[in-house]
Amino acid sequence: MDRKECVERVAALGEGSRRDLPLLANVGALLAETLEDINWVGFYLADEAGDLWLGPFQGRVACTCIRRGRGVCGTAAQRGETVCVEDVTTFAGHIACDARSRSEIVVPLFWDGRLYGVLDVDSASLSRFGARDRADLEAVARALENHLVGTL
Ligand code: SME
Repeated sequence: MDRKECVERVAALGEGSRRDLPLLANVGALLAETLEDINWVGFYLADEAGDLWLGPFQGRVACTCIRRGRGVCGTAAQRGETVCVEDVTTFAGHIACDARSRSEIVVPLFWDGRLYGVLDVDSASLSRFGARDRADLEAVARALENHLVGTL
């Protein structure tokens, strides 16, 4: 599936959505069936303090809460920009939820003028994510944000 088609699928899933949790679950499932060579994809949702709480995901059991600014997820959330890590062993503070993960990309999500959460994708291959994946996942994130309503 190319970027355009994936963004259209996200928009279709979000059309008329009145709850965020089912939409996040379906977008996660769509990405899990679309992206190759990944071992984890899912969302962490931000609370008022900026801590990130596990949301819908596909993959192995993961950390329930990532404290503000911690790990790749917290870093992307704090910077407000995508963080792409070619080799997680070189990222100081990386949180190893699934020991198989070798590379990771985290895209922050914004809604109503604030951090909403992050989209996190892990791979068991080194340097799995490049500029194209970054642009694809950021496009998916923007399409998803358009359909969030702020009610789980
Ligand atoms: N590796 C992430 C933690 C989440 S898991 O990969 C699902 C991090 O360092 O923030």
